[in-house]
Amino acid sequence: MIPWVEKYRPRRLKDVAGNPGAVRIIANWGEEWQRGIPEKRALLLYGPAGVGKTSVALALAEELGYDSIELNASDTRTYGVINRIVGAASKQGSLRPGDGKKVIILDEVDGIHGRAEYGGLRALKKWVQETYHPMVLIANDPYILPREFRELTKMVQLKRINQRTVLRVLKDICRKEGIKTDERVLKIIATNANGDLRAAINDLQALTEGRKTLRLQDIDILTIRDSELRIFDTLIRILKTDSCDRALEAVRESGEEPDVIMKWIQENLPREYEDPEDLAKAFERLSKADIYMGRIRRRQAWNLLPYAIDMFSAGVALAKKHRYRKFVRYQYPTLFSLYARTKKTRALADSIAAKIKGARETVNEKVHVSKKVAKEEFFPLLRAVFNQDPAKGAEIASELGLDLEEIKFFTANDRLAQRIHEEARRITAARLRERMRGGRQVLLSEFQAPGK
Ligand SMILES: Nc1ncnc2c1ncn2[C@@H]1O[C@H](COP(=O)(O)OP(=O)(O)OP(=O)(O)O)[C@@H](O)[C@H]1O
Ligand SMILES: [Mg+2]
Repeated sequence: MIPWVEKYRPRRLKDVAGNPGAVRIIANWGEEWQRGIPEKRALLLYGPAGVGKTSVALALAEELGYDSIELNASDTRTYGVINRIVGAASKQGSLRPGDGKKVIILDEVDGIHGRAEYGGLRALKKWVQETYHPMVLIANDPYILPREFRELTKMVQLKRINQRTVLRVLKDICRKEGIKTDERVLKIIATNANGDLRAAINDLQALTEGRKTLRLQDIDILTIRDSELRIFDTLIRILKTDSCDRALEAVRESGEEPDVIMKWIQENLPREYEDPEDLAKAFERLSKADIYMGRIRRRQAWNLLPYAIDMFSAGVALAKKHRYRKFVRYQYPTLFSLYARTKKTRALADSIAAKIKGARETVNEKVHVSKKVAKEEFFPLLRAVFNQDPAKGAEIASELGLDLEEIKFFTANDRLAQRIHEEARRITAARLRERMRGGRQVLLSEFQAPGK
């Protein structure tokens, strides 16, 4: 089944929802390219996830009738590719307008700075001054990049899509898919997405999977809206403090359901805690809390509630070695993680859990992990690792033999999943090659039980 975010990706600039001013600037810049070479040869398109940055770049190419090539700035192979494209054109002299031009789309340029990739930045600087092909650079946070670089580009911001616009897009999709729904339901999805149109569309698809009507009672989430402010406050108080009492007090005073607070913490923990050790520890406690919560739900074991609360509030608060002094824009948990326990996700979760269980048993036959434990204890941790440390994520994905769909289950966006997937395949291939090259030793060490 084709994901709706792909099916309904805007093909032309006029189909792009929201940000009309920015889209107009981009269209004008495109027209300049059809007449010659504009003053700024590269666009620096920036804004939060899921607002259409990549889509706009692709639509622009479509609009101009140029081919496009999408590359990722943190992939080292990218540099050779762009060098070839940009270099070839400048040797030929300027291309005639419209002649074999390509829109070069370079994603995650904010990722190259701050790492060892100064060389990358230097190359980028050269290209944006010399290219005869329109370049669209994409970033979430362009201010990480040095000013003198930014000034070489035409900066255009895409902002969060406002709720009315998100609602309009959702309605439109429902109409095209023949889905009957209550406007209130769509409003809830729109509010919850918080300006991320991709999240809204994904939520809609997940919630309507296998049905043609979606009613209010199907999603039972009205609490979200009323408690929005309160929950942000609770979250800040728990994640920012290093006092046990204050964390507990935050839960007491919040008046929100414990399992809702817990989902919010789960979603936002990786945004607040940076140190992997802090994160691991916090997630461990969170997953304990989750296990208690499960028992409470299944067996009405209310006596466990204080332990669950301790774990996800004070436990999480004290998991950090020091407080993080920074501003974090906390995110709404996706409806997906909150309520959409659809058949497809359940099946996906099951297959991943089975792989974790399988891997565990190969390593050490005495460790028997049930699929349930695999889910409860490993999933939150994997989610953190995949989003915080994609390189590590790739190793794990390779180890477990996760496929792309399974990786997507853990990542915040599909692009990241693709990157991890590619890297994982590279690791697996390298390991296989190693093995074929007389790797008895490799095999042995691989199957040794941990801790021996
Ligand atoms: N402004 C928009 N108009 C129409 N559809 C949109 C818009 N923004 C996002 N979408 C939908 O969400 C999907 C993902 O959008 P896109 O990949 O362009 O986001 P992005 O801003 O590049 O996100 P990221 O920062 O995660 O790469 C699109 O395929 C489309 O279905
Ligand atoms: Mg993108």
